[in-house]
Amino acid sequence: MTGDAAARWFNTRMRVVVTGSIATDHLMTFPGRFADSLMKEQLESVSLSFLATDLQVRRGGSAANIAFGLGRLGLAPALVGAVGEDFEDYRSWLDRHGVDTASVHLSDVHQTARFVCTTDVAGNQIATFYAGAMQDARLIELGPVAERLGDVGLLLVSPNDPVAMANHADEARFRGIPFAADPSQQLSSMTSDQIMHLLDGAAMLFSNEYESALLHERTGLTSDEIMARVPLRVTTLGANGALVEQRGEPAIEVGVVPEKAKADPTGVGDAFRAGFVAGMAWGVGYERCAQIGATLAAYVIETVGTQEYEFTPTEFAERVAGAFGAAAGAEVATHLVRG
Ligand SMILES: Nc1ncnc2c1ncn2[C@@H]1O[C@H](COP(=O)(O)OP(=O)(O)OP(=O)(O)O)[C@@H](O)[C@H]1O
Ligand SMILES: [Mg+2]
Repeated sequence: MTGDAAARWFNTRMRVVVTGSIATDHLMTFPGRFADSLMKEQLESVSLSFLATDLQVRRGGSAANIAFGLGRLGLAPALVGAVGEDFEDYRSWLDRHGVDTASVHLSDVHQTARFVCTTDVAGNQIATFYAGAMQDARLIELGPVAERLGDVGLLLVSPNDPVAMANHADEARFRGIPFAADPSQQLSSMTSDQIMHLLDGAAMLFSNEYESALLHERTGLTSDEIMARVPLRVTTLGANGALVEQRGEPAIEVGVVPEKAKADPTGVGDAFRAGFVAGMAWGVGYERCAQIGATLAAYVIETVGTQEYEFTPTEFAERVAGAFGAAAGAEVATHLVRG
C-alpha cells in the first residue's frame, strides 16, 4: 500500500465509539388507499384508523446500525446513545453481535426512539417519529466512556439529538479524541453555525452526495475550504460508489459491489460507514476501507432490515475479492480471521 495508508493515529488496540440514534421501526401495511378515507372538507377534524395487515418491527437507529456492522466485522465497538426501558431485547441482540452496550444511557422516563410508518397500496406513507429517550443523549458524558475503554481511536458523531451531537463533538475536542462528523439526515435541520461547529476539529467527515451539496449550500464553503478544516472526507454516491478525499492527496474513487438481489436499501449508508471504519481500525489504506464499506453495503441491500445480514469471514473476503480483486480479498481476510 502506498501513501493512502490509513489513519496514522488509529490502531487495532484502539476502540471505536459510535454515538447517535438507537431506534426501532414499526412498519405497517394498509391494504387500501389513504386517499379513499381522507375527505378534503374534513381535514380540520381528522380521526382515522387504518386496519393494517402486516407489522414488521425492525431494529435501527444510525448508531446501532453502524455498531452492528462493526461487530459483524469482528470489532468490539462501543455504542453510546440513549434508550428507554423497552431496550432490553434490543440490547441482548446487539450484545450477541459483538456490540459493547455498557455505555448506553437508560432514560427512566422515555421509551426508546420509535419510527411508526404505515404504507398504503399506492406506496403513500403516513409516519410518525417519536424521539423519546434520544433527547436524553444530551445528558451523556463521554469522560466515563473513554475511561472505561482506554484508548479511543475514533468516535463517530452520527445522527442524534442535535444538542447531543454538539456536546459529543465538544467533548471529543476537549479530550483530544479523534472524531468523525457524520450528520447525515440531521444536516437538513442544522444551521450553518451548527455545521461549522461540528466540522471544527473533526478528523473526518462522512456524507452522501445530497448531504454534501447541502453542506456546501448551507455553509457557503467550497470543497477546498472544507478540506482545509477536515483532512479526510468520505462521500457516498449511491449506485455510483464513493469518493475519498484527503488533504494534499489525489481523490480516490471506489465503485460498488454488484448486489445479488434488491431487497431493501435502508441502512446502506450506515453499513458503508461501518465497513470504512473497520478498515481504518485494521490500518488498511483508504481505498480498501471504501471497498470494505461498499461490500458491507451490498449485504444490507440484499436483506430486509438494517441488521439482518450474515456472512462468514471467508464469504466476506471472497465477496471483496470478487468485486475488487484477489489482493483486496486476501488483505481483508487476514484481518477478519484475526478478528
Ligand atoms: N444500488 C447500489 N448497488 C450497490 N451498492 C450500492 C447501491 N446503492 C448504494 N450502494 C453502496 O452504499 C453506499 C452508500 O450509499 P448511499 O450514498 O446511497 O448512502 P445514503 O444515501 O446515506 O443511504 P441511506 O439511505 O442509508 O441514508 C454507496 O457508497 C455504495 O457503496
Ligand atoms: Mg444516509
